[in-house]
Amino acid sequence: MFLRHVFMLFFHVTLVASEDNSFIYNGFQSSHLYLDGIAELTTNGLLKLTNDTERDKGHGFYPNPIVFKNTSSESVSSFSTTFLFAIIPQYANIGGHGIVFVISPTKGLPDSLPSQYLGLFNDSNSGNSSNHVFGVELDTRQNFEFDDINDNHVGIDINDLKSADSTPAGYYDGYGQFKDLSLSSGYPMQVWIEYDGVKKKIDVTLAPMSVGC
Ligand SMILES: *[C@@H]1O[C@H](CO)[C@@H](O)[C@H](O)[C@H]1NC(C)=O
Ligand SMILES: *[C@@H]1O[C@H](CO)[C@@H](O)[C@H](O)[C@H]1NC(C)=O
Ligand SMILES: *[C@@H]1O[C@H](CO)[C@@H](O)[C@H](O)[C@H]1NC(C)=O
Ligand SMILES: *[C@@H]1O[C@H](CO)[C@@H](O)[C@H](O)[C@H]1NC(C)=O
Repeated sequence: MFLRHVFMLFFHVTLVASEDNSFIYNGFQSSHLYLDGIAELTTNGLLKLTNDTERDKGHGFYPNPIVFKNTSSESVSSFSTTFLFAIIPQYANIGGHGIVFVISPTKGLPDSLPSQYLGLFNDSNSGNSSNHVFGVELDTRQNFEFDDINDNHVGIDINDLKSADSTPAGYYDGYGQFKDLSLSSGYPMQVWIEYDGVKKKIDVTLAPMSVGC
């Protein structure tokens, strides 16, 4: 990735189905996150996923597996999460490629590629339903091979970098007006991801820090 710094400030996950599966990080110092690639924790507890090295990737995974699916009932738990991030490109407006919140069957995605593959898939497994990978991408580049709608969008990735759905990044202000939000502006933003296991519906909300908090 050309991303200079991607920071995550805090991370909050709640699985509605079982109350003991809830955790909050206010800084990642003692989180025991599983890190790979060029990801690192800064001394003040931020998760820094990438640095100035081009075409590289970094992951931070919650250390323990979380059960999302009840094998006897086949239902997937409702869950919600929120986190803060900032994408700070090395040169204004030519950052890339993006970050993804991911749920995967493995801790680490060692065969994934950086750049347009977002550290999620590679050129042979993208689109394969055996991946069992779900992601919410915050993508700052338009890649036509993945049918990207523009160079600043939020997408739902189900086993595939061709998003099942995507929308330009933005938020609704207090008057109900849609405002564009540049993901790689360098400013902190907050994301909420909420899945309703009964309705099988995912909602993703984005807001600049000044609106979100
Ligand atoms: C990025 O991080 C990796 C791993 O820590 C390191 O080897 C590399 O030198 C760093 N790149 C830059 C430009 O700082
Ligand atoms: C799985 O679903 C069954 C039937 O709804 C329920 O009895 C059981 O407690 C569930 N198990 C877990 C681990 O949630
Ligand atoms: C792509 O990733 C899969 C794992 O999901 C791996 O089996 C395969 O070898 C990888 N392909 C390449 C070309 O790296
Ligand atoms: C999808 O992945 C599975 C497991 O890695 C593999 O056996 C299968 O051949 C892949 N399918 C395609 C179409 O590449």
